[in-house]
Amino acid sequence: MSSLQPFLALLPSAIKVLHATRFISGWINEYGPLITLRSGLRKVVIIGRYKNQGGTLADRPRMIATGELFGGGLSIAYTPFGDRFRRMCRALHTHFQPKAAGAYQPLQTSNVKNLIFNILDDPYNFQNHVTSYAATVITKVTYGNTAPTSATDPQVIEMRKLRKLIDGALRADAFYLVDSIPWLKYIPWYGRELKQGFERSKRLNTGQLNRVKEQMQSDVDIGPSFTRYMLENGDHHGLTEDETAFLGGSLFRAGSNTTTSVICTVLMAAACFLDEQVKVQAELDAVIGNHQAPTFTDQQSLTRLHAFISEAVRWRPVAPNVTAGFPHRTTKDVIWDNHCIPAGTTIFGNHWSICRDPEVYPEPDAFKPQRWINDQGSLRDDLANFLYGFGRRVSPGQHVANRTVFISVVLILWAFQLTLDPTQPLDDMGFMNSEKAHRPFTYQPCTIEFKARIPETELRRMMQIYPEVVRANGIDQQGNEIPLSEACL
Ligand code: HEM
Repeated sequence: MSSLQPFLALLPSAIKVLHATRFISGWINEYGPLITLRSGLRKVVIIGRYKNQGGTLADRPRMIATGELFGGGLSIAYTPFGDRFRRMCRALHTHFQPKAAGAYQPLQTSNVKNLIFNILDDPYNFQNHVTSYAATVITKVTYGNTAPTSATDPQVIEMRKLRKLIDGALRADAFYLVDSIPWLKYIPWYGRELKQGFERSKRLNTGQLNRVKEQMQSDVDIGPSFTRYMLENGDHHGLTEDETAFLGGSLFRAGSNTTTSVICTVLMAAACFLDEQVKVQAELDAVIGNHQAPTFTDQQSLTRLHAFISEAVRWRPVAPNVTAGFPHRTTKDVIWDNHCIPAGTTIFGNHWSICRDPEVYPEPDAFKPQRWINDQGSLRDDLANFLYGFGRRVSPGQHVANRTVFISVVLILWAFQLTLDPTQPLDDMGFMNSEKAHRPFTYQPCTIEFKARIPETELRRMMQIYPEVVRANGIDQQGNEIPLSEACL
């Protein structure tokens, strides 16, 4: 992300991007959990251990190229702490709180069976299938179940092009002079591509918002969606039409590649650690058996599966910006051990190091799902996962994402035995590097062989009738709501 770019520019190119995170982690092991990088008058602090700092890290540093020129100041991820952030954040957290997120389970369930069919038909391209699944879910969560999701739809094509543009601007080795010389932003010819990107995003986001509006006026059944919620409750949150449109637009960017990386990381871990995969499948066989497919109602009974998922994302942490995570900015002086981090300092949490804190995760390099389980055989509640970030900026999409990850992973591990293809290369860090991993047509970190655990015809038949309403809805046969475990991940 831009605030770290001037510092990464100082590093040899070979260690940029993915390797920067481990390089920095080496410094953390050697010098302690607080690293300061200086470039001229600018400095950033990188933190390698987690400590709750309350709301003091809620701000973002100024990101002129990405936040102001491309985002027009309307993209929540780059919005500084203040009135606009509070209004946007309240809308997102209200709509995506655990109970409300449950409304999307039928949508997640009905789309996940396509993932199974696609893996059966074309296992080699599992990464593309996961990408389509994650993108479809987040698009429908944002705009309703009639939203276009086909790869050939012009809006989908434009969404992908714009994401590519912003991904390019966020590359660890991308550098925009305007982030050092702010007045450049007023020069008409400067950053033309970024400014045009903003205009294109505005057209796209407004077009999507208007389509939902029209469908609601003409009584089309679009199901629940974030945009519909905002159109029905917008006054309550006090957001302008532009803010609402861009908030919707942010969700695809925030929630598609991240979810893809997490699902693929878990599948890769299953193929790499067969003994642990077998333990998860023993639990699935005991709880579900092979005469019915798992659904959300099984969520609370699958301790081993949740532990496996948590360990996979600790082993190979996935963050929107792999180099270090999202930048934060201190809102006041922060005392960290014996050091004072002054107000206004840019801070990164180095996810790799935080996930390898030996005091929290003994033998941090070992893959041990058991570490997440206590002596009573339940999930430990004293061990945290930082997959979704920190403090006030924690991902508002976590409850939706947890469900998308859970239902896809449970179904795949129930349906298939996963093994690595020994003839193909394995890059087990590959899904952490979003800049490469999200070009699935050209880059595939691992090749997994999927062997059906039940006869294929039977599996296909079960998927045809896979429950979409009663069990998946979180409603039991008597019409009572089924409490959902938030413990996963
Ligand atoms: C498994 C998938 C996901 C992962 C790993 C993930 C992770 C993250 C992380 C690490 C951050 C930065 C937090 C920080 O600054 O400390 C973030 C921010 C964000 N995420 Fe997610 N996320 C995921 C899915 C989603 C989904 C599905 C949505 C939308 C429904 C979403 C919406 C957002 C938004 C809007 C932000 C910006 C929040 C802010 O700046 O205050 N994310 N996410």
